[in-house]
Amino acid sequence: MTARVIDGKAYAAKLRGLIGEGVESFKSETGHVPGLAVVLVGEDPASRVYVANKAKQTVEVGMASFEYKLPADTAQDTLVALVDELNARDDVDGILVQLPLPGHLDELAVIDRIHPDKDVDGLHVVSAGRLVAGLPGHVSCTPLGCMMLIKDTLGADIGGKEAVVIGRSILVGKPVAQLLLAANCTVTMAHSRTKDLANVVRRADIVVAAVGRAEMVKADWIKPGACVIDVGINRVPSAVEGKTRLVGDVAYAECAEVADSITPVPGGVGPMTIACLLHNTLQAARMRRGMEMDKRF
Ligand code: GUN
Repeated sequence: MTARVIDGKAYAAKLRGLIGEGVESFKSETGHVPGLAVVLVGEDPASRVYVANKAKQTVEVGMASFEYKLPADTAQDTLVALVDELNARDDVDGILVQLPLPGHLDELAVIDRIHPDKDVDGLHVVSAGRLVAGLPGHVSCTPLGCMMLIKDTLGADIGGKEAVVIGRSILVGKPVAQLLLAANCTVTMAHSRTKDLANVVRRADIVVAAVGRAEMVKADWIKPGACVIDVGINRVPSAVEGKTRLVGDVAYAECAEVADSITPVPGGVGPMTIACLLHNTLQAARMRRGMEMDKRF
């Protein structure tokens, strides 16, 4: 039997449609346009593509996009001064500083300078703390996208399921584990020092792979009928000389023979990240103006 393919591209498009409607009602209620500022430091080609896509999709849902491209040798003080300026601006509801930053910059110090109300990336310690405490706050975009896909596939009640998260990054592993826990799953966080990883993963009803190792998760690690969420985006050489292709952290074809449902790469979790960023920006705009969260999502 072949697994159901979880179509993140289609889900993200539907979500952006709803966000567009949410933006329209926000504009007519408040007279304000929600605004997202994105800061890119340096010339990393993958980051440039992400940032260009973010700007395009921000405008498509009716929000204002403010882009800041700074040279790779930008000083910490200059970057922090820009964050301060964006914190103070009324027309900026959300701020995202694209990671990774060049090596001489202190990433955590920059992220923590963002006002928590505008932390639409959900990476500030206040956002992380609110998530652990079970308080409302901004949830980082990729983990939020994973949860939306899991609940759309398995139904809203995933309580009691065994979930194994592979990877413990601040961007994905840790927050997605917290979200699964909040949804009453029994959560195991596996990582590079986990012993007998295959056996740990084999108990999972839900697997979230976020390690950044191409096709590491094999079919015999997967419990028959599991839901497999692949967050990895790895560029590997293709069969065509000189070309590359994208693969996830999961060996897709063989795992699809065992799983109940699985996200492809590309077209699975990837498109959800920007859609969730727009979702967070609309919610930030509403919260900053004393409105309730938009409950459609
Ligand atoms: N780089 C890759 N993914 C992300 C993300 O979700 N947020 C930020 N700020 N940088 C990233």
